[in-house]
Amino acid sequence: MITSALPYANGPLHIGHVAGAYLNADIYVRHLRALGKDVVWVCGSDEHGAAITIRAQKEGTDPKSIVDRYHALIKDSFERFGISFDIYHRTSSELHKETAQAYFLELEKNGSFEVKTTEQYYDAKAGMFLADRYIQGTCPNCQNPSAYGDQCEKCGSSLSPTELIDPRSTLSGEKPELKETSHWFLPMERHEGWIKEWIEKGILDGKPHHDIDQWKKHVMGQCKAWLDSGLHSRAMTRDLDWGVPVPLEQGKNKVLYVWLDAPIGYISATKAYCEANGKDWKDYWQNDESQLIHFIGKDNIVFHCIIFPILLKEHGGYNLPVNVPANEFLNLEGDKISTSRNHAVWLHEYLDEMPGREEELRYVLTSIMPEVKDSEFTWDDYQARVNNELVAILGNFVNRCLVLTGKYFEGKVPEPSESETPEELKELFATNADEVSTAIQAYKFREAMQAAMMGARIGNKYLADTEPWKLIKTDEEGVKKILFESIRIIAHLIRVMGPLLPGTSEKLKGMLGEGLDAEGKVVKGGALGEVGLLFRKVEDEEITFQKEKLIKEPIAEEAAQMDVKAEIDFETFSKLDIRVGSILTAKPVEGADKLLHLEVKVGTETRQVVSGIAKHFKPEELPGKQVTVLLNLAPRKIRGVMSQGMILMAEDETGKLVFVGPESAIDDGSEVR
Ligand code: 2FM
Ligand code: ZN
Repeated sequence: MITSALPYANGPLHIGHVAGAYLNADIYVRHLRALGKDVVWVCGSDEHGAAITIRAQKEGTDPKSIVDRYHALIKDSFERFGISFDIYHRTSSELHKETAQAYFLELEKNGSFEVKTTEQYYDAKAGMFLADRYIQGTCPNCQNPSAYGDQCEKCGSSLSPTELIDPRSTLSGEKPELKETSHWFLPMERHEGWIKEWIEKGILDGKPHHDIDQWKKHVMGQCKAWLDSGLHSRAMTRDLDWGVPVPLEQGKNKVLYVWLDAPIGYISATKAYCEANGKDWKDYWQNDESQLIHFIGKDNIVFHCIIFPILLKEHGGYNLPVNVPANEFLNLEGDKISTSRNHAVWLHEYLDEMPGREEELRYVLTSIMPEVKDSEFTWDDYQARVNNELVAILGNFVNRCLVLTGKYFEGKVPEPSESETPEELKELFATNADEVSTAIQAYKFREAMQAAMMGARIGNKYLADTEPWKLIKTDEEGVKKILFESIRIIAHLIRVMGPLLPGTSEKLKGMLGEGLDAEGKVVKGGALGEVGLLFRKVEDEEITFQKEKLIKEPIAEEAAQMDVKAEIDFETFSKLDIRVGSILTAKPVEGADKLLHLEVKVGTETRQVVSGIAKHFKPEELPGKQVTVLLNLAPRKIRGVMSQGMILMAEDETGKLVFVGPESAIDDGSEVR
């Protein structure tokens, strides 16, 4: 039972998604199928949660239109790229709703939840409770003024909404109020004992469950870090009107938490697939003979390794995953992939702009897959790998071999009398397929791809060493043998490339035609099919086009997608007292390496300001600098110093802060309007 993370249907797929949880799983699953295993691989759109409603709000439309649009786009991109899910489902389906509600009720019946009343932020103007992502405020750790209720994206710390300083609702811009609400909580602390033993030792209910040495170190590391900081109760319901409704009278106007809802999506997708194919979904989820594996990106680790397993065990009857081979992140041209900055290679655009190059992308992304650490995609590297490896090694070998066979033996597989495998090919035929298979089963897809390319490398060397084009003048029998063995290498490549480059493998099958039997063996005397080029060289213009697009578009897109705060009226604006001031002194704040304690002269007053700029400026470079100060911000004590204002700063594209000050020297105290 294989699953790939359900992508949020709130935007298109980019190559980071592909390399994270889909291409790896596709190779793995194709390999299992080739081994004759009974495997079901499910995926689908994650259509609930704040990720969707926020996108809808941004685009000025409703959540339903968002998920319909992106579900169709994502599904289509996967299909065009050749990702071979057994089903691509969606969590907005009726079957999913029934499945998730029944699951929730079962847990409720088992006493797995605690209903608790807590205070949560409520936006009175919008008339709703605010999901964490709907609350912004100042980060208590780094003073970033636009941290979210669950996380500060600047310093990376995870937060809870009540930790934010000056919280505001992103819906109305208003300060939210705390209001009581009840929710179903999963008391995870109850499960610490067994989950620790399961993660750290691979033991479940006193019996060996899986081999922990097969789990990736970074996955284990994240889980241990989470466990070490103690498990806490987590709300499994939300006050929202978008999601799977809580199927209880007391749960009116509440929906299931998206991280309860989404993984159950794996189960409902399996049900949908099995129903349509005369199979029983329980054989995959609730049978000792079946093994569950989740392919995900690293941001989903704790949900799949801790929270979902607790939910599965609490329900009872379900298998727990034997492995969660999460990948790390793929960067792009020296920077993080970013949807909001449009710094990404979008899968659907790649497919449109580089038609017929699906296998090239598969090859490159597999070769650089972020399996155990973050890795990087660049267009120059893409071009080099395609031209120097796919074209020059794999394509070249196949082409030479088949063209020569066409020329010397009328396109029929030669029939040499000698049957002994040449010494230099023995190892390849004996061990290479196992090497590829072992690597795939250990989730080492880069290694598998490299091993699979060995066939072509060895084949090229074999042709270069034996020189059949010269030998043909003197020893036709010898050439028969060489080309026959070379065609055997192609048959071998067809097999090992099957899961890695399935399109290429199919093309090669076509080229061998009747020279290959149903078992993949070479048929002496069999007529080859039509021989064509496997790969086209990637031209400089294609690369330049892609690179320029990356440089240009962020600017255009950023304007279109800029995250503008809620509108305010003039009266609100005029409440701000902004003035020009001069920094008189600057000194470090004890025990806070990010803060500086400044004295700023504004007109006739001198103000104390604590500012989070120590990482950007040395104290000695600041005295004399003219800056803009927000004077009437409520004073706040920071590290024992009363801060009486805020200095306005801008951040450049590298994250460096610059002062926003007057263009030329001007009197301190001048008003900014
Ligand atoms: O991080 C994400 O994109 C989530 N939509 C993944 C969900 S995986 C699963 F649990 F469904
Ligand atoms: Zn922060």
